[in-house]
Amino acid sequence: MLFASRLTENAELRALEPWQAAEFLAHIDKARANIEQYIPWAELVTDLDGAQTFLQRYADRQAAGEGRIYGIWLDGELAGGLLFRTFEPAWGSCEIGVWISAEGQGHGLITRSTRQLIDYAIGVRGMNRVEWRCVPSNERSIAVAKRLGMTYEGTLREAFPYRGERHDLQVWAMLHNEWESRHWA
Ligand SMILES: CC(C)(COP(=O)(O)OP(=O)(O)OC[C@H]1O[C@@H](n2cnc3c(N)ncnc32)[C@H](O)[C@@H]1OP(=O)(O)O)[C@@H](O)C(=O)NCCC(=O)NCCS
Repeated sequence: MLFASRLTENAELRALEPWQAAEFLAHIDKARANIEQYIPWAELVTDLDGAQTFLQRYADRQAAGEGRIYGIWLDGELAGGLLFRTFEPAWGSCEIGVWISAEGQGHGLITRSTRQLIDYAIGVRGMNRVEWRCVPSNERSIAVAKRLGMTYEGTLREAFPYRGERHDLQVWAMLHNEWESRHWA
């Protein structure tokens, strides 16, 4: 496999591209129950066209230098992923989003892979700020932000409309100088 990064003995982080739309759709269908409460775009990925369109949108963002999507493969099966939902070099700022299937959850795969994205964003691309946004009820997401050593910055009130309701959105972030004293290798 080209461009794969090992996370554990049986898990890898890899590029996720439009040609993998069928595999992506099968994965989202399987993971849907675990992620739909917190991942609005899962509603866009319900058939092959939707999966293809979603991955193409990220391929286009990648080509423009404005975002990117990655997958996590566990025992050879797509089990979750991460994305640079925003990526703004001129501002020195980006936001990471994540998801994982029930089977992949609880093994540290998100923490490990998010560290790699933060290392890339700050260490390679010179970002000053990596953001993490989540609703206050998403305890597992908040636990990841804390595990990464991010700082809670505040709550955007009713900033996230989803399924007919407006939800608050917590903002967590890591800055360049905080990354320099990070606790991972
Ligand atoms: C949020 C989400 C991605 C977190 O996934 P996760 O698997 O809990 O996250 P991590 O990879 O950090 O794993 C942490 C767990 O693995 C354990 N773990 C094992 N080895 C570990 C290691 N080397 N490093 C970190 N944690 C490790 C931790 O103790 C923790 O265990 P716990 O489940 O008993 O608390 C997942 O719950 C999810 O997909 N939720 C739905 C979608 C969603 O909310 N996305 C985020 C929107 S803001």
